[in-house]
Amino acid sequence: MARVLVGVSGGIAAYKTLEAVRLAIKTGHAVRVIQTPTSERFVGRASFAAITGAPVLGGEFEPDPARGAYPGEPVPDRAPISHLALVERAEAYLIAPASANTLAKLAHGFADNLLTAAALAAPCPVAVAPAMNQRMYRHPATQANLARLEQRGVRIVPPGEGDLASHGEYGIGRLAEPAELLEACEALLRPPTWAGLRVLVSAGGTREPIDTVRYIGNRSSGKMAFALAREAARRGAEVTVVAAATTGTPPPQARLVRVQTAAELARACEREFERCDVLLMAAAVADFRPAKPAAAKLKKEHGVPVLELEPTDDVLGALVARRRRDQVMVGFAAEHGAGAVESGRGKMARKRLDAIVVNDISRPGIGFDADENLVTILSRTGAERRVEQSSKAQVARAVLDEVERLRREPREEADGARMGARSTAGV
Ligand SMILES: Cc1cc2nc3c(=O)[nH]c(=O)nc-3n(C[C@H](O)[C@H](O)[C@H](O)COP(=O)(O)O)c2cc1C
Repeated sequence: MARVLVGVSGGIAAYKTLEAVRLAIKTGHAVRVIQTPTSERFVGRASFAAITGAPVLGGEFEPDPARGAYPGEPVPDRAPISHLALVERAEAYLIAPASANTLAKLAHGFADNLLTAAALAAPCPVAVAPAMNQRMYRHPATQANLARLEQRGVRIVPPGEGDLASHGEYGIGRLAEPAELLEACEALLRPPTWAGLRVLVSAGGTREPIDTVRYIGNRSSGKMAFALAREAARRGAEVTVVAAATTGTPPPQARLVRVQTAAELARACEREFERCDVLLMAAAVADFRPAKPAAAKLKKEHGVPVLELEPTDDVLGALVARRRRDQVMVGFAAEHGAGAVESGRGKMARKRLDAIVVNDISRPGIGFDADENLVTILSRTGAERRVEQSSKAQVARAVLDEVERLRREPREEADGARMGARSTAGV
């Protein structure tokens, strides 16, 4: 079983972490705990020490009586040189509860106590479980801090909704339940199951030139695609992102191919497609482009131009025609209002995709350029999974879980035979 480091910061929910630690030990993990000074006002060290059977550390200058050993390990003869020995040896680091204050420090790289310094030095995966009053949780500063951490690959264990510690208040901000905290730890410990898989993700919105300055574009930020790429990399895949215009931050683990237009995106995807196992087509690709883009900037004095548009090539259609049976192809459909899911189902069948992720862009606060999404994932197996409004990282996890299911269920032979025929025709 694994060495798990638990960081406890200051909040009433610290008592729930005691139970999570108990569950982790019952599962067989060796747990050490570090606490912020404020957290000790909520739950004393003695409780965590008694449950873990190991001393609890609260400060950087305190010697560790166990000299960096986890329960069940022999105590070394010499004390470790570094105050960060515990995190250096941990296989997972869970920070629960993560107070608003600690989240802010983590997001900005502060290292002013043992818990935050350990997070900066952690060679292992890190999860944070926020817990606070709902107004603190919903505050844009806290949300931005969480988004920043998530972008860096920190796993967020979302808080629950219900009665809050402050009398009579109800809302979001309750620390995840102990079993969920344990599950988050176990998720960090799972081996990278996508090792050896090659994932191709298309991202952002294409820009079709009107002249040398202006273009027809769309509001896609690339955030959903980057979240998918980040999650695929976290699962161990080799990831290539073909990105048109984006405002989000691409994950550093992915190979990035920059493009502008639908035609460039199509060429880049065609080049990369052959060697990919999973295609996640999350880019917003223009359907129309100016038929004759001007070779210079159009002058205002020459009057209002009339744009003639022509259709762009069907990128996904061209790739599907060349697909191998073992490739999993996922499309995305931004649909407007009632009938979004039905329309997505039609697109999945028409384009012969394995799955399609439908989001209703008529709803405010989700989808284009937002940090959150609410989607329905439809699959060729007939499954329909709705992911309630949540961060794009969480939606990405659900999409990749569906890809995993699809990879376990090979296509029907008849379908495969058709695909073989198409693949020859398409080359
Ligand atoms: C009674 C009480 C309860 C608190 N509960 C929380 C909480 O649940 N979440 C939170 O973010 N802050 C809470 N705070 C505020 C934090 O303790 C405070 O921001 C502190 O600076 C956190 O320090 P730390 O992040 O170093 O542990 C609470 C404060 C008090 C006095």
